[in-house]
This record gives sequence, C-alpha cells and structure tokens, in this order.
Amino acid sequence: MRRNQAPFPKTRFRRARRSASMRALVRENRVSVEDLIWPVFVREGHGIEEPVTSMPGVHRFSVNCLVKAAKEAHLLGIPAICIFPYTDPSLKTEACEIAWDPDNIANRAIAEIKAAVPDLAVMTDIALDPYNANGHDGIVRDGEIMNDETVEALVKMALAQARAGADILGPSDMMDGRIGAIRDALEAEGFGNVAIMSYAAKFASAFYGPFRDAVGASGALKGDKKTYQIDPANRREALRCVERDLTDGADMVMVKPGLPYLDLCREVKDAFGAPTFAYQVSGEYAMVEAAAANGWIDGDRVMMESLMSFRRAGCDGVLTYFAPRVARLLNG
Ligand code: PBG
Repeated sequence: MRRNQAPFPKTRFRRARRSASMRALVRENRVSVEDLIWPVFVREGHGIEEPVTSMPGVHRFSVNCLVKAAKEAHLLGIPAICIFPYTDPSLKTEACEIAWDPDNIANRAIAEIKAAVPDLAVMTDIALDPYNANGHDGIVRDGEIMNDETVEALVKMALAQARAGADILGPSDMMDGRIGAIRDALEAEGFGNVAIMSYAAKFASAFYGPFRDAVGASGALKGDKKTYQIDPANRREALRCVERDLTDGADMVMVKPGLPYLDLCREVKDAFGAPTFAYQVSGEYAMVEAAAANGWIDGDRVMMESLMSFRRAGCDGVLTYFAPRVARLLNG
C-alpha cells in the first residue's frame, strides 16, 4: 500500500447495484408502453392476417382484423399506431393517383379505427411508394424524381388522410418543402389541429429491406433512394433537415433508422428540444428476430435493451414493431 492513498475505493458504484430494489432506485431511464407507436400493415380483403416472411411475428391485416388489433393495442396501453398500406400491384401507376383517393385502403383503415377506437391516436405515412409503379416515394419523369410535383401530390394525400380522421401525419418521402406545403394546406382546410411528425432525419438505408417486402415495393423499386434520403455519412445535414422541418411546421421529428443513428437522436433532442422519435425499422426488427430464432440471443432482453437505448439517447418515443410484445412483457 502506497502512503497517502486510501486503502479502499471511496466510490463503490456496486453499492447501488447490489439488489433489484437498489438498481430500481437509481435507474435513470425507463421504457414505458406509453412512449411506443406501433407500425402496422393493412391490405384488402376480409379476415386476413398474412405473415410478412422477412418480419416474423408481423402481419398484413385486412381492415376488419386491423380494427381488432387496434382495439387490443389500445387495451394494452399503446397510445398510437401508424398505418402502412400494402397495395395490389395492379393498382400502382406512374401518376400514383390512388395515394389521395379518399377510399384507398389506408384511408378506410384510418376511418374505421377512429370509429371503433377513438382514443387511439392514428398516424399515417405520406409518400408515394406504395402506389407508385416504380416503387419510388416521388413522381418519376425521365428517370428523375420530381420534387415540386411530388409535393403537390403529397399535399392531396395529406388532406385525404386528415379528412379520414388521422391524428398525426407522417411525411416519410424526403422531398424538399413538403412540411411547409402540408402545414399550409391543413390550416387552409380547417385541419389546424392535425399534427405532423416529420421523418426529418431519414437516411438512405439498407435497413428498410423487409419493410419494402411488407408493402410490396421491393419488386417495383427501380434504382435507389439516394437522391432524396440523407447520405448515412452526413450528420450536420441531418440536423439542418430537422431544423428546416421544425421551422416549416412539424410538431415532432423522427430519426430513422434507429440504433445505427443513436448519435443523431441525442443531437436532435439537445439542439432543438422538440418531441423526438426514433424509428426502429424493419431491418433492425428482423435482425433481432433472426438471431433470437436461432437461439443466438435472448430476443426479449435484446428488444428491451435496444428500446432503452433510445430513451438514454434522449428520444421521447419510438416507432417499433415490437410494441405489442413490449406491452405484454411490461404489463405482465
Ligand atoms: C417509405 C417508407 C419506408 C419506411 C417507412 N416509410 C421505406 C423506404 O423509405 O424505402 C421504412 C420503415 C421500415 O423499414 O420499417 N416512404
């Protein structure tokens, strides 16, 4: 023992780790069901719950089955669901006009869920890809994604969703100027209370693969989305996109994908303080499921640990396909 050095560690962190009770007392963050948004897929038909191969445990529901699932989600304490349509390939066109049809499958699902479970918040997706013959989020002309023309289409789509009763609109398309245009149109049409969660920091990611299968867009997609989604290398650009969308009228912002972009979750929350969400996307879900199915990881524990990381990184909430499973686990 050297002189002038205490013969024991003054700070024993292990004192507060000794028991479950002590650990609970000093726990800094918690995952709660109230912070989760459940993304769901809807398709035509009746009584259908069709498994999505690349996302074990996830289904495409017909509207009546989705209403049932929405009721269950509400009973489990999940505050919101987010609806993504699977459209029949025969309905896809280059003009994407089904996207703003008041009777399209997504709008019918919104209306029926709001009628059956009014207290469950319904979020939408605004982008043309489920309706586009070439799988892109925007209108394509001579191989180019047309920004301003697409924004006009997105505004029509947003208004149709607001009329169907949506609580939160989710523009996921990454065209420039869409948040301002949608916000103006909502105000002008008497939908000043409809919220916008902007997919503000959305990266051109390989983690969306299973989702594109789920909505039937992977076969259709020609090329990639790098001319509109953010380069995964760019952090400052992502922050500028978030700032722009908040200025243009977004109420909440999203970082997407989630785990590989946790640095941006923290930075966005610290820089702007606005309600910040992460989207734990389809590829993140599929990786956990695949490893768990092989017995290589404990699926439930990895699920909870990944969700905790979003809270630790400053997120107010998370969009996750795990939502009902988390609720069942936490509700006991
Ligand atoms: C499309 C959209 C995508 C996701 C949500 N909306 C895919 C894409 O941009 O190609 C991804 C969600 C997920 O992977 O879970 N506008």
